[in-house]
Amino acid sequence: MNEPAVEVVECDVLICGGGMAGCGAAYEAAYWARAAKLRVVMVEKAAVERSGAVAMGLSAINCYMGMKWGENQPEDFVRYVRQDLMGLCREDLVYDIARNVDATVHMFEEWGLPFFKTPEGRYKREGRWQVMIHGESYKPIVAEAAKKALGEGNIYERIFIANLLLDKDDSGRIAGAVGFSVRDFKLYIFKARAVIVAAGGATQVFRPHAVGEGLGRIWYAPWNTGSAYKLPILAGAEMTQMEHRLVVTRFKDGYGPVGMWFLLFKATLKNAYGEAVEEKWAELLKEWLPYGAGKPIPTPLRNHQMLRDFVAGAGPHYLRTDEALTRMFAETQNDPRKVREIEADAWEDFLDMTMSQALLWASHNIDPAKTPSEVVLTEPYLVGSHGAATGAWVSGPEDLAPKDYFWGYNRMTTVKGLFAAGDGVGASAHKFSSGSYAEGRLAGKAALAYVMDTAQAAQIDQQRVESIKQALFAPLKAYEQAQARVTRGEINPAVLNPRQALVRLQKIMDEYCAGYEVGYMTNGPTLRRGLELLELLREDMAHLAARDLHELLRAWELWDRYYCAEAHARHILFREETRWPGYYYRGDFPKLDEANWHCFTVSRYDADKNQWQLNKRPYVSIVS
Ligand code: FAD
Ligand code: ADX
Repeated sequence: MNEPAVEVVECDVLICGGGMAGCGAAYEAAYWARAAKLRVVMVEKAAVERSGAVAMGLSAINCYMGMKWGENQPEDFVRYVRQDLMGLCREDLVYDIARNVDATVHMFEEWGLPFFKTPEGRYKREGRWQVMIHGESYKPIVAEAAKKALGEGNIYERIFIANLLLDKDDSGRIAGAVGFSVRDFKLYIFKARAVIVAAGGATQVFRPHAVGEGLGRIWYAPWNTGSAYKLPILAGAEMTQMEHRLVVTRFKDGYGPVGMWFLLFKATLKNAYGEAVEEKWAELLKEWLPYGAGKPIPTPLRNHQMLRDFVAGAGPHYLRTDEALTRMFAETQNDPRKVREIEADAWEDFLDMTMSQALLWASHNIDPAKTPSEVVLTEPYLVGSHGAATGAWVSGPEDLAPKDYFWGYNRMTTVKGLFAAGDGVGASAHKFSSGSYAEGRLAGKAALAYVMDTAQAAQIDQQRVESIKQALFAPLKAYEQAQARVTRGEINPAVLNPRQALVRLQKIMDEYCAGYEVGYMTNGPTLRRGLELLELLREDMAHLAARDLHELLRAWELWDRYYCAEAHARHILFREETRWPGYYYRGDFPKLDEANWHCFTVSRYDADKNQWQLNKRPYVSIVS
């Protein structure tokens, strides 16, 4: 095999991932860099215009306070997030998002993103925190602003960042990153004084409902593979709440979101016998006090009720779109123009963000005004920006963070000069698209401050770069050397391809780490067995083979997912309680344990020794 071309890129701030948080970081860092004549570079594995979880577009902005209208205050948002996460959020980080997010949303409108408006000119609300948009072009609008701010020469697309680089003489300090082109046979070495990881959450760590030809038909973006977790994990950054996960109700098979139906249309979730699930299982909530008594009912507890109903044999479950629309039509006296408007909003909700659901309804002859639609709980996702809180343990803002949660720069991880944003920041959920962008801005500004305060540039270790280079392209070499040993189709006893290994990872996680097929149930012995099987998979992954650059990308995305899986399993094993029923259950510790576990879990991975260390971190509240 030939040697790849190599390009070295020098910059001051490097942003890994051009999604919502990445574009926010780019916009803000570029502003502060201009006067200081510093260089900010953004690297994206796809094309920024249509990358990440917002690629398809969205139909709502789920995090907006409306402070200029007096609608909500940051304290309200902290209470909401704390309740939904059943007691555990970094209140300083959540407050920081709340006080900054509105300005970001207003910028989106200035740039041309169309919002639904009320007659008084306010944003039309879907729910208390959500506002409605015509968001099919949300990502191109946000991408354009980032590109303009950075300048074309500072954006590197179609490059997958596979590893971060640490300083030659200080393993607790960042020095850059290494990636490879997914179009050319080329290695990129980025030397940077500060790095912001904004590379998105993790999907397909668990076996989804649709397998075989449907693999990839999931809710969260199939191309988000967990780089936002693997990169800091391998760099030795502390991670928090990696046991947390997101399981959500979705329209079956198309994975269409339900927020608008629940919040705006007030549709009810009923079982096959027409019983309202929330009412039927209201008593269950008393087992999860104090959170079971709070409002809104936390997402995991809503899942818990639905799951209990399913186990009681009352499925399938339906969102009664028919009842909701009939009621709404009647409220307009069945005025044909208004009825059409309501119908258009209902369809646009999907057409803006999950087109496949609209296609599925059409192909199943479903008219939501006449037919109720089946909903199910999804497989688990690891995301830090929705109703879940996996991610890096980061410093909070100086004016808000409790003493032990602050170490100099907002959103800096425990590795000096390494920042995180969006899905990658832990214990700070419900940011969604707007909050992730706002957090990118906070990280971008702080990274610039760090660079300006740090006179001495970090030094990369050339030997380390060389060993990463060998490892990165090894799957291509493995394929070249083993291809004659194919026995049939894709079967080659000498190597395994990324798809085969992905399916094996998903099977282990599903069966041993509380996946969908086992009703989200696990326990200590099951997790320990799962970890043994993960270790065996990891050994075999040394024999991954890639027949082209596309498969090479898939191979390294699989490593992202592998480290997410291991971190997730280890954290669940460590937290000896069931805090989020409906997300996962520890059969051996089936209850909430406020006395011992009202705290954060924090892990650190030592890549040289392949050892994990887990600890508790005290919870400090700043909002009563
Ligand atoms: P992303 O926006 O996903 O960005 C991550 C970026 O990193 C991507 O561009 C990715 O390609 C890139 N990347 C990944 N790995 C690498 C690597 N190794 N090297 C280089 N680049 C890399 N939010 C709302 O506000 N309202 C909604 O209605 C809403 N609905 C949603 C519906 C769906 C179907 C989905 C999937 C998400 C929805 N969200 C919604 C959530 C919102 O999209 C996320 O909260 C937000 O995008 C998270 O921002 P992020 O920057 O962390 O990740
Ligand atoms: S989306 O990100 O894909 O749009 P979804 O449609 O489920 O997610 O949720 C949108 C917003 O509505 C989120 O803020 C979510 O927490 C909230 N939400 C969804 N269903 C409910 C419900 N039944 N009760 C309260 N909030 C809900």
